[in-house]
Amino acid sequence: MTRRSFLTTAGATLAASTLTHAVEGIPLEHAPLPYAPEALEPHIDALTMTIHHGKHHATYVTKLKEALTAGSLAGDDTIALIKDIASLPEAAQTAVRNNGGGHVNHTLFWKWMAPASSSPRTPDGKLAAAIQTDLGGLAEFQKGFAEAATKRFGSGWAWLIVRPDGKLKITSTPNQDNPLMKGIVADEDLGTPILGLDVWEHAYYLKYQNKRPDYITAWWNVVNWNEVARLHAQAAK
Ligand SMILES: [Fe+2]
Repeated sequence: MTRRSFLTTAGATLAASTLTHAVEGIPLEHAPLPYAPEALEPHIDALTMTIHHGKHHATYVTKLKEALTAGSLAGDDTIALIKDIASLPEAAQTAVRNNGGGHVNHTLFWKWMAPASSSPRTPDGKLAAAIQTDLGGLAEFQKGFAEAATKRFGSGWAWLIVRPDGKLKITSTPNQDNPLMKGIVADEDLGTPILGLDVWEHAYYLKYQNKRPDYITAWWNVVNWNEVARLHAQAAK
């Protein structure tokens, strides 16, 4: 091995381990919502929360369990499963991508929201400083994030991720893809998600119908900045 290829390999290993160690595992279980379905009113309505969590999220969990059983695969940690989908048997890959992604994304999403009065309404400390340095400040970040969420054609997610170099980046994925999915998400958009917004119609249609931008604007009122800061501290170590 030449010095150059050693350095390249070492760099790649460091980047991979940054991603590996920054993310908490997610068990294959459908946990209850961390608050009452009506707790996010009037911004996100109770019926949407009840159906979104109780039906949509539950279905991702059920279908993931079925796919793992069919493929005789272990699935203690859904994060580990979705990070390296290419290593799974081909027959299980699409089901894990869609339903494993769906389970991870929604498990995180419930915690990224909280009743408006229970969390600071803007980020502070190191998270606020990183948003300033990497994204030009809170207003610029919210503008860029809302744009990513609005422009996502069809179903998908907008993300705030921590890249392997520790910097923040706004990205977006289709369907239930997640920024941890190596080989599926473009390399430059891989990272640890510390905030995400579900822009599937099932997340907003009952209250906002076709007005996705209104849903996005209202959603900022229930962002759980404490949780975003906690994940940022963990991922940016
Ligand atoms: Fe959803």
